[in-house]
Amino acid sequence: MSRPRTVHRCRACEAVTVRWAGRCPACGAWNALVEEAVPAAVTPASSRPGRPAGAEHDLVAHGAAEAAAPLSLGEVDLAGGAPRPTGIEELDRVLGGGLVPGSVTLLGGEPGVGKSTLVLQLLAAVASAGRRVLLVSGEESAQQVRLRAERLGPLPPLLRLFDATDVTAIAAAIGDESPALVVVDSIQAVADPAVNGMPGSLAQVRACADLLVHLAKSLMVPMILVGHVTKDGALAGPRALEHLVDTVVTVEGDRHHALRLVRAVKHRFGPTGELGLFEMGEAGLGSVADPYRLLLGDRRLGASGSAVLPAMEGQRALLVELQALTSMTSVGTPSRRSAQGVDGGRLGLLVAVLENRAGIPLRQIDVFCSAVGGIRVTEPAADLALALAVASAGSGVPLPPDLVAFGEVGLTGEIRQVPHASRRLAEAARVGFRHAVVPESCPAGPPGMELLHVHSIRQAIDLASGAVPPA
Ligand code: TYD
Ligand code: MG
Repeated sequence: MSRPRTVHRCRACEAVTVRWAGRCPACGAWNALVEEAVPAAVTPASSRPGRPAGAEHDLVAHGAAEAAAPLSLGEVDLAGGAPRPTGIEELDRVLGGGLVPGSVTLLGGEPGVGKSTLVLQLLAAVASAGRRVLLVSGEESAQQVRLRAERLGPLPPLLRLFDATDVTAIAAAIGDESPALVVVDSIQAVADPAVNGMPGSLAQVRACADLLVHLAKSLMVPMILVGHVTKDGALAGPRALEHLVDTVVTVEGDRHHALRLVRAVKHRFGPTGELGLFEMGEAGLGSVADPYRLLLGDRRLGASGSAVLPAMEGQRALLVELQALTSMTSVGTPSRRSAQGVDGGRLGLLVAVLENRAGIPLRQIDVFCSAVGGIRVTEPAADLALALAVASAGSGVPLPPDLVAFGEVGLTGEIRQVPHASRRLAEAARVGFRHAVVPESCPAGPPGMELLHVHSIRQAIDLASGAVPPA
């Protein structure tokens, strides 16, 4: 593709675009674009360092932004930089209030977890509030998107769909439509014809994201790029985008379970660590105000091998049931250690500590452990509850049903303190738990919650099973 010798500058706002349009994509002024020779000072993003030679786009470059001069921090204009609520409360919580104009958010998650469903609901919410939005669907056909959207609710007329994969066509459509929000589903499906490589290749993903990010900034339109993550966490492309975008939001959850955890792992406009909870149902993703029902609703009280952990997911405490089952290892086979939703390496370590420091024989025993509800618990604070569940499974003695436990287990069998003790205890007390096995240094809990302070795993097992009364 040859480099254009001219660009078009808007008489109203000085924005520069490669292709002529009746309406300025930046400010919306009609018949304001005037052709002029390519000036040295305004370099289309396509010829910026890092962009492959020959990649030309109808990119809008804003003259004023390009010629920015240093200024005092206090002079920075904050107008227009405030987040705008999306209308989906759990998402706004994760985003620190909503989407910031001109910001680019990468929405990552495994295939099938619910990314397309979430963005469709988000677009419908914004469109229903009277703002024009654009969904670029490079992955699903227009018919598929419509059918899914109809299942989720009425079709708002301001929800516009563009079934395309060519990033230059997408950029032009964004300019023409002037939407209040753009979603590209997915970044791995779009391609730049001027760049070598298949859609989804690193070069393509980077080139397309680079173009779209510049477009979002120059048009001040918030943009969401959907990116698939593979099971082993390799974001085949999207991870390479994390530094390009302002915000990285992940959707997690087991596709065989209803619960979905949405969190910001990078956020330039607010804190990370906020957790949004959704439940996948017949009509898409619904907000979960109280995850207690989903996570502990079907718990069998009085069963051995079950312990409840007040886990921290970001800034939010969630009560998660950890289960263990032990059985004799078949003759001639090595003992199995199976972990689902908990860390396998951690389980191996805890089994060794239980054997060597607490005298629980597990050598010829298979140990199976899982976190219930499709949740993954990897924090060291889960050690104590997991060890208690294994010990309870081994002895057949159930733990009291109103007991929670948290603490890190060290190699000498000592129980170490963990962060957010008060928040964990408050959540446990809120839903009716009355006893907590905690590290010795743990501060006092809320009213009605009796703390059993322990310094070793042996002591924890004895106290929790009621073998000795608390001191
Ligand atoms: P999807 O949003 O397509 O996932 P992603 O874009 O992350 O690949 O979600 C797909 C799954 O969600 C699919 O297995 C069906 C399920 N689903 C529901 O259970 N209810 C619904 O209302 C919708 C739209 C999807
Ligand atoms: Mg999808």
